[in-house]
Amino acid sequence: MTSFRTAIITSIRQETPGVKTFSIAYEDGSQIPYTAGQFVTFVFTHHGREERRSFSISSCAVLDEPLSFTVKRVDNGAYSRLLIDRAVVGDKLYTTGAAGLFTLPESFVSYKQVFFFAAGIGITPVFSLIKTLLHTPPDKQIVLIYSNRSKEEVVFYNELNKHAAQFPDNFKIDFLYSSSFDLSRARLSKALLKTLLNEYATVPKEELLFYLCGPFTYMRMAIFALEELGIHDEQIRKENFNTNDRQIRVVEPPDKSSHTAKLILDGKAHSILVNYPDTILQATKKQGISLPYSCEVGRCGSCAAICTEGKVWLSYNEVLMDSELKKGRILTCVGHPIGGDVTIEI
Ligand SMILES: Cc1cc2nc3c(=O)[nH]c(=O)nc-3n(C[C@H](O)[C@H](O)[C@H](O)COP(=O)(O)OP(=O)(O)OC[C@H]3O[C@@H](n4cnc5c(N)ncnc54)[C@H](O)[C@@H]3O)c2cc1C
Ligand code: FES
Repeated sequence: MTSFRTAIITSIRQETPGVKTFSIAYEDGSQIPYTAGQFVTFVFTHHGREERRSFSISSCAVLDEPLSFTVKRVDNGAYSRLLIDRAVVGDKLYTTGAAGLFTLPESFVSYKQVFFFAAGIGITPVFSLIKTLLHTPPDKQIVLIYSNRSKEEVVFYNELNKHAAQFPDNFKIDFLYSSSFDLSRARLSKALLKTLLNEYATVPKEELLFYLCGPFTYMRMAIFALEELGIHDEQIRKENFNTNDRQIRVVEPPDKSSHTAKLILDGKAHSILVNYPDTILQATKKQGISLPYSCEVGRCGSCAAICTEGKVWLSYNEVLMDSELKKGRILTCVGHPIGGDVTIEI
């Protein structure tokens, strides 16, 4: 079963007003394994209920950096305020570890240049990915377009510039400030995105890979702009921090009958009867079995599993690409068995 482990805060660094980076290790001193682009999920109790929050990892495993995540304080936010206002070195946090699919591709054969579009705190996974790419051979061409209100709000400003100076041939950064007087290079718009692509792209568009992380409207605009430019879905990776609209789920599965999901978890099989409207995750929770999850709305990928038999229908999916769906990858938090029983490997 997926259980929580205790992590200890080993260092805290103030990045900008309201933004801090926390490094953590397991209680026994061992490092928490992670991959660039992933997030770490914490479990806490709020008003007597178990809650989870995820934070993208900003450190780089290739450089042997301990798992670090960077948090922006949200007004009225339960967990971000706890971390930013109250957490101190030595505090214990409860974590299910690192997860997520906003990672680097297994092979760079198809991609010659990588564009990162980040806004605000959306830089966290992007910073980890960029450091990993720069410090792993072979050389890749990397462009970062990073939007903020002003220079004072840029997280990792010095480190990013340090990397740009260290890798002048491979890494270009364009900082955009929405407070800028030059409106043609202030807020990222579809037109500006296309201009920047013309300026920085050095290879045909089929050889570009894109990573997007920022507020919902920013990501939506960027995706539309890339689609208009003929960029294929497979070339775009996106990470969404906003999981607030938890209640929105209007679509219904084509089959609402009860089916059994056989879950293979840590080598053990569990039979779970899934009755609509429960998802596979909800039905499993009711049986007291703990699966990995975070957002519960099909947006983060931490509940991803493989369906090896039968068919699972997803009510929502913002993370799995067509190629992953074809391989049987599913999300248990929005997944319903349809047309019969299913077997799922976690
Ligand atoms: C995959 C993933 C990765 C993430 N990575 C990071 C990261 O690297 N750094 C980081 O700081 N956060 C990150 N987040 C967001 C983070 O998990 C929390 O949602 C955020 O810190 C707010 O949690 P909270 O408990 O403080 O607020 P809550 O108690 O959940 O919310 C309180 C109030 O604030 C509003 N609110 C919640 N979140 C936001 C927001 N982001 N902006 C504005 N208003 C909001 C809610 O509507 C509510 O009214 C990530 C989320 C996901 C799903
Ligand atoms: S828990 Fe986030 S996608 Fe399922």
